[in-house]
Amino acid sequence: MTDPDARQGRDGRGNGRSVANPLREGLRLERMPEPCTMVICGATGDLTERKLAPALYNLMLGGFLPPEFTVVGFARRDLDADAFRQHLRESIDKYSRNKPAKESVWESFAKGIEYHQGNLDDPQAYVELAKRLERIDRDRGTAGNRLFYLAVPPKLYPEIVEQLGEAGLAVHRGHDGGKQGWVRVIVEKPFGYDLASARALNRELREVFSEDQIYRIDHYLGKETVQNLAVFRFGNGIFEPIWNRRYIDSVQITVAETVGVEGRGEFYDQTGAMRDIVQNHGLQLLATFAMDPPVEFRAQDLRDEKVKVLRAVKPVGYNQVEDQTVRGQYVSGWVEGAKVPSYRDEPDVAPDSETATYVALKLAIDSWRWAGVPIYVRTGKALTTRVTEIAVQFKRAPLALFARAGNPVIEPNVLAMRIQPDEGILLRFGAKVPGQGLNIRTVNMDFRYGSSFAVDSPDAYETLLLDAMIGDASLFTRDDEVERAWEIIDQVLQAWANGEGGPLHFYSAGTWGPPAADELLERDGREWRRP
Ligand code: BG6
Repeated sequence: MTDPDARQGRDGRGNGRSVANPLREGLRLERMPEPCTMVICGATGDLTERKLAPALYNLMLGGFLPPEFTVVGFARRDLDADAFRQHLRESIDKYSRNKPAKESVWESFAKGIEYHQGNLDDPQAYVELAKRLERIDRDRGTAGNRLFYLAVPPKLYPEIVEQLGEAGLAVHRGHDGGKQGWVRVIVEKPFGYDLASARALNRELREVFSEDQIYRIDHYLGKETVQNLAVFRFGNGIFEPIWNRRYIDSVQITVAETVGVEGRGEFYDQTGAMRDIVQNHGLQLLATFAMDPPVEFRAQDLRDEKVKVLRAVKPVGYNQVEDQTVRGQYVSGWVEGAKVPSYRDEPDVAPDSETATYVALKLAIDSWRWAGVPIYVRTGKALTTRVTEIAVQFKRAPLALFARAGNPVIEPNVLAMRIQPDEGILLRFGAKVPGQGLNIRTVNMDFRYGSSFAVDSPDAYETLLLDAMIGDASLFTRDDEVERAWEIIDQVLQAWANGEGGPLHFYSAGTWGPPAADELLERDGREWRRP
């Protein structure tokens, strides 16, 4: 059971209708997937409404989907196809980056929308689904190509995957006189709850699907700026030579959010910032920042390099948790002019919850490139600013030449790669203040996506859905990658669960987090950026 398309990467070889000439890649038509049906399991949930429906509509609007493309919403709720279409239409009008929906585009999209009512644990529902998909193949020419999207809570993954297998829906289908249609499954995060459960989940998935059929989503990898990080590093000659311990002093990865738990109290209270952000988005940013150049820019090579660097990241040991991590939880405060309640007062959160809504940690990479360069990672909810960035602090000039002229010591150079918002790249360096004398001030050299490119970036889900349909797994996480990411933080989670590894610090909503996080860096003679 292999998926030949999935093993081919962004090089365009064999990716659906893509062509071999890399210079032509990126042309709209070359990125058009084969006709296929996407089955959304759990189609009436929040994810479909906020992300999937708008993403599919925008792909349709951009001309990236073939006319045969069909969506089947599979869920328990008693809806008919028209009601489901209406639900998608409303989601698009509310959440799409291009809204409201354009009638002509919506009409052709709507023709390919169906609803399959059934319980996700009922075998008969899958038997019926199989019949429906065969009928769609005949009527709409979707050629046996199927993409299953598990938009459900993770505890349901094993059941759904098993049922898909039992109903014969996990194997590639023969059609058109023997040509094989492909079958792929997209799994949402969180992928597991800890290392043991992630391993178990991988095993369960692989009992039914082969690894190259499984697309594990980390939507950060679909963000334009994260993809640009690879282009910035490997498409330019001047950065790679200094991307190492000889020139870099330390790195700060920040995923700061102003939002609280947004009505997801029940989920979040069992998850916390370490599982919700650090294990996936945080470590993916780290891997993309720190990996060695891949042999080729394609799924296997990229993921091999990411796994290699993650293997070099030292897992935080149980006894180091107190020294290397800080956990916090917000109490009431003001964020962007609005009053935010304490985390413990949020709906569906335990009144004595110990869940961390803020995490800061210090990681080390044991490799020739990175030995001795601390990587500080922080993330938090209800902070003062929404910003995701990777900031590289370079070593100081070896000689403080200008300090002698009475200038303060020049700040070290910083290269900040801004993932969101105000996407761009900023370099800070010292410059002479015009005039007599030799005064020096730090200035910014600032590249901004918004001003350099007039086009709107696609949402991460647009990129990722299209890639999955094309069979390009470059921006999805592989089984070994996910497991390694859990390994790195597993002892931290265990220590915290045992009430060890340092106290839970409280911070007011609308601040930069607990002061203990500042102390984590101060101990090393450094400080957090305040972007
Ligand atoms: C999700 C987390 O994966 O990422 C959320 O579950 C978080 O808690 C979100 O808010 C952040 O994503 P973005 O794209 O808004 O930075």
